[in-house]
Amino acid sequence: MLRTHTCGELNIKHIGQEVTLSGWVQKSRDLGGMTFIDIRDRYGITQLVFNMEMNKSLCEQARKIGREFVIQASGKVTERSNKNPKILTGEIEIIVDSLEVLSPSKTPPFTIEDKSDGGDELRMKFRYLDLRRNPLKKNMQLRHKMALETRSYLDSLGFFEIETPFLIKSTPEGARDFVVPSRMNEGQFYALPQSPQTFKQLLMVAGYDRYFQIVRCFRDEDLRADRQPEFTLIDCEMSFVTQEDILTTFEGLAKHLFKKVKGVEIEDFSWMPYSEAMKYYGSDKPDLRFGMKFVELNDVAQNKGFKVFDDSELVVGINAKGCGNYSRKQLDKLTDFVRKPQIGAKGLVYVKYNEDGSFKSSVDKFFDQEVLKSWTEKFGAKPGDLILIISGDKDKTRKALSELRLEMGNRLELRNPNIFKPLWVVDFPLLEWNEDSQRFHAMHHPFTSPKKEDIDKMESDPGAVRANAYDMVINGVEIGGGSIRIHNKDLQKQMFKVLGFTDEEAQNQFGFLMNAFEYGAPPHGGIALGFDRLVALFGGSDSIRDYIAFPKNNAGKDMMIDSPSEISEEQLDELKLKVVL
Ligand code: AMO
Repeated sequence: MLRTHTCGELNIKHIGQEVTLSGWVQKSRDLGGMTFIDIRDRYGITQLVFNMEMNKSLCEQARKIGREFVIQASGKVTERSNKNPKILTGEIEIIVDSLEVLSPSKTPPFTIEDKSDGGDELRMKFRYLDLRRNPLKKNMQLRHKMALETRSYLDSLGFFEIETPFLIKSTPEGARDFVVPSRMNEGQFYALPQSPQTFKQLLMVAGYDRYFQIVRCFRDEDLRADRQPEFTLIDCEMSFVTQEDILTTFEGLAKHLFKKVKGVEIEDFSWMPYSEAMKYYGSDKPDLRFGMKFVELNDVAQNKGFKVFDDSELVVGINAKGCGNYSRKQLDKLTDFVRKPQIGAKGLVYVKYNEDGSFKSSVDKFFDQEVLKSWTEKFGAKPGDLILIISGDKDKTRKALSELRLEMGNRLELRNPNIFKPLWVVDFPLLEWNEDSQRFHAMHHPFTSPKKEDIDKMESDPGAVRANAYDMVINGVEIGGGSIRIHNKDLQKQMFKVLGFTDEEAQNQFGFLMNAFEYGAPPHGGIALGFDRLVALFGGSDSIRDYIAFPKNNAGKDMMIDSPSEISEEQLDELKLKVVL
């Protein structure tokens, strides 16, 4: 080996030993008679010392070495006179007697420090340099540990890790597919999997009753902090289980990971029906680290002459405790916030519960003190509180108030990244109406089973059918989702019919699955957890990018390898493809 030790392991016990270290030059300092070089590797930093009096030529050689050179240095471990308690190797230094440059380096385009001076774009372009920095190193280590602990937990329960193909078939449901042209089958395309959904179900038909895979998935959708075009799932499926069995198993996985990786015992998951999550938090992934539950005010706010409320399907508010002293400017800022196009509210009504017991609102013209009092009573508000109200179309209003609730949670510092509030959201609707296509879409995916008691509504009132579907939500992040599947060909056929497929289309797209159901399909269900999101949550961040070694930017590009890119005429010819722009 080109080293006897790593740059993070030498301490007072090694004093007197002859050692060889290899690594990158973090920085060097030339103090005339002495030159110091900090040598860095994955494990830490060690100080190398070169003494002009003891070895002039070596010292001169050391002075020429720049940042990020890869060097090999041998010498004796000695106790430092000037100790650095901040680093593990801070009690020692190496008096170097031989030095070799293994690889020179250009001056890096940004500093390789915990807080770098490089902008996002630059760090993405030179990702291999960014990955040298401690914060990213820590993230990669966290990810590795979580993958390892996931495998260990699932293996202990008898799950098999089985790989499924990446070149599969494009299907019309879900997000957009990334497609791959087939050279051998002219004019035909593979699709990259959005998830191994159908394959894991086929594995259940095959009898592999506990499957998992830590697997890359691909979705051509708009990107956000918590979305990448390629991302990783902890994908799982089980046979002969109820919904509760699955929730218990994967609550167990979450608890195992928290304990083993973070040393934290998290509380039991709470359960909340989808309808309740929407009514009280305006979101199917409520952040339960704080209250601020929605209170609906239709009965006490309508038919009192304020047209905005009277014309609204829903009048609903939250209580921002202790914010009754908000200034005009602060309230205007909140109004601007809810009016942003991505939030979509038309305006914001406030009621301040003054310390003297009176009320001041933005709608004093329309509502007297008695009415305002009746509103605040509904919130259990106290003097000093601030009620914030939005009205309009039910779904949009809930969504906007949910954003405002999260914003207030941030402002009031109620979203502590070290507190974890896990939740199962259950009883999702099976279907949701899509205005653009004027048909129902599967809320989860078309293989999700309807609740037994709702099956008779599949034709008459599809929108009211609830599914055996569930999401794992922690701190307002949708970590994962799953369902008990349909395992009966006729019910699956009926589902495709409700989704607007003709029998022929259904057979064409998903015949392989429905045919498999004719050969003894066990009752089964599963879940997939977004691994990148889970790791980011453990790391205390909302953004998954820094937990992926080589992520794409917001435009879906890899700045480092410059992808996507054009392909050559020969490649296009071979694939019988023509680019028309
Ligand atoms: P679903 O589509 O809900 O379910 O995806 C599961 C989880 O994957 C994560 N996720 C993403 N993470 C990063 N970037 C993305 N673009 C992205 N898209 C999704 C989320 C999400 O909860 N086959 C079903 C699971 C099942 O039914 O078993 C599925 O894929 O955390």
